[in-house]
Amino acid sequence: MIELGVCYYPEQWPRELWERDASHMRELGLRVVRIGEFAWSRIEPRSGELCWDWLDDAIDTLHRHGLRVVLGTPTATPPKWLVDAHPSILALDEHGHARGFGSRRHYCFSSPVYREQAARMVTLMAERYGRHDAVCAWQTDNEYGCHSTVLSYSQAARERFRAWLQRRYGTVQALNQAWGTVFWSQEYTDFAQVDPPAATVTEANPSHRLDWRRFASDEVVEFNRMQVDILRRHSPGRDVLHNFMGFFTEFDHHRLARDLDVATWDSYPLGATQNFFLDPDEKRRHAFTGHPDIPAFHHDLYRGMCGGRWWVMEQQPGPVNWAQWNPAPHPGMVRVWTWQALAHGAEIVSYFRWRQAPYAQEQMHAGLQRPDGSDDLGAVEAAQVARELDGLREPLRAARTRRRAEVALVFDYPSLWMADIQPQGRDYLALEACFRAYSAARQLGLDVDVLPPQAALDGYALVLLPAQLRGDPGLATALRGSSAQILLGPRAGSKTEELHIPTGLAPGVFSELAGVQVQRVSSLPPGVDLSLRLGEQGPGLRASRWCEQLALRGARAQARFAQGAGGESAQDPDQGGAALTRHANCWYLAAWLDQAGWVSLIEHVAQAAGLAPLRLPEGLRISRVGELVLVLNFSDSPVRWEPPQGEATRLMGALELPPRGVSAWKLLPAASAH
Ligand code: GAL
Repeated sequence: MIELGVCYYPEQWPRELWERDASHMRELGLRVVRIGEFAWSRIEPRSGELCWDWLDDAIDTLHRHGLRVVLGTPTATPPKWLVDAHPSILALDEHGHARGFGSRRHYCFSSPVYREQAARMVTLMAERYGRHDAVCAWQTDNEYGCHSTVLSYSQAARERFRAWLQRRYGTVQALNQAWGTVFWSQEYTDFAQVDPPAATVTEANPSHRLDWRRFASDEVVEFNRMQVDILRRHSPGRDVLHNFMGFFTEFDHHRLARDLDVATWDSYPLGATQNFFLDPDEKRRHAFTGHPDIPAFHHDLYRGMCGGRWWVMEQQPGPVNWAQWNPAPHPGMVRVWTWQALAHGAEIVSYFRWRQAPYAQEQMHAGLQRPDGSDDLGAVEAAQVARELDGLREPLRAARTRRRAEVALVFDYPSLWMADIQPQGRDYLALEACFRAYSAARQLGLDVDVLPPQAALDGYALVLLPAQLRGDPGLATALRGSSAQILLGPRAGSKTEELHIPTGLAPGVFSELAGVQVQRVSSLPPGVDLSLRLGEQGPGLRASRWCEQLALRGARAQARFAQGAGGESAQDPDQGGAALTRHANCWYLAAWLDQAGWVSLIEHVAQAAGLAPLRLPEGLRISRVGELVLVLNFSDSPVRWEPPQGEATRLMGALELPPRGVSAWKLLPAASAH
């Protein structure tokens, strides 16, 4: 299915409105409605007192109007009576303070009482609605980890962490070894002595912190699996999914997604543009459109999780309330974002939310409708896409199964945790490195699959590993067997699984492949930049934040630092000063590049891979799905896009795209072959 949907909260509106809402959703072309994910206090207002009539009625109303329902399990919001009856379900912060009641996500993943209560509620819901004709899917909980809620320092977590360590290490000696506890007399003689890494005088042992994060990630996975198992038992044939977040890496999404049918995520391009690492100029330039590659990066990340099945569960419909600044999107953006998701293979794009709430925390968050029930711009644009989709659904569906990117980007959650635990320089941001490399490929018109480190890499022309700190031997073997051009970013392989420096130094397991050894690293304070040149005549690039001094062990330098921290030994052309090296098909980058640098570098390496990168005009993005090409103009100026050699049939839009315009093309066989 390829459809549009919406998130709806019938419990927040008088019953008299439901019928009209459902009928108007249909009229706008929406087909899927997510409900229920925060409704525990209405389903069970007091312990054991179950009120299903309203939810029966809401589901039946939607069903009567031909809308399919995604039911959310309400476990992100345990109600007051439950918290009061069982205070142990609350998560504790690192100072041991309980999370307060009155917002959401206040529970502790490790609490046995909460697991039992959540299982009880999920079972009740699944028994009641699991076979309802209207119910097409289940969403487990809501945005695991949102508002920094993965970690809890509760007694239950402490005990489960000890058991987890015991399973991982077997003996306490092995744990001591793995953590290097001889340092500063941290040695343990019993697993029962180990606490979560909290309230230490200075930084706690990094391997201890890494295991704590791994443990916490596993707790989320286990909590989710408990729900999935219940849902599968009582609701056969329905998809089970979860809505992940953007730029959120506090648990391993690849692992959790193994238990799901569909990976979904919540796309808020303007909020993300303001709240994450973009520089002030980028935040200004993209204030009303969002950075074009933020949604796409996540579309491609989540597409890599459940065999290619993914949705946007929540799509920004207008201004949000939670970012540092909340501009209203320019007219046309809700349509562009929706088409962008469809172009990257989304099955469903569902808007958050149907109607703006006039009260409570999110009263400043737009919906498709204003609080008075009138349609806001988002509704008008959603309806436009629904009409356009009617003409494009079939070609899109047919093409989707043949989507194949030429570039793979390896994304590894534990590597991000390692960088976070030991950044070594305040602005070494592994997630940003991944995004910059991705964005560069997109600016060059290349389609990218974002993949877990275990994924098969055959068939790609170019494999990017911008922040693969963790030396993964399996990945190293796969890379050695690959004929793609491989680009390793700085710090690749610089840590073992235990977060040690590898024997033989970085890049550890990738040393043979890269033909270099990292002998020294420098992080660079703001304003300390290095310049480097790509080839004799190539562009001059700027390195900042991070650089490394390499010894060449078979690789040849492709770029050298002109001066400064990386280049002291540049007198010896074979030893040192290299900023970029090549060893057969493996490239190693020894510095942090800015966005322009990434574009030049990926262009260079993509050419070596036999690809034909294009320099797209600012704000233009193209996405290929089989023989379809979708062209999106994120900018405020008209842009022209010519299909390659003119060999394409126009399906929508025009050659000249207006600001925030979209066009769709079907390539003729000759053009789609290359
Ligand atoms: C998401 C969340 C929704 C709503 C939305 C607002 O993080 O899942 O419940 O809060 O953000 O943008």
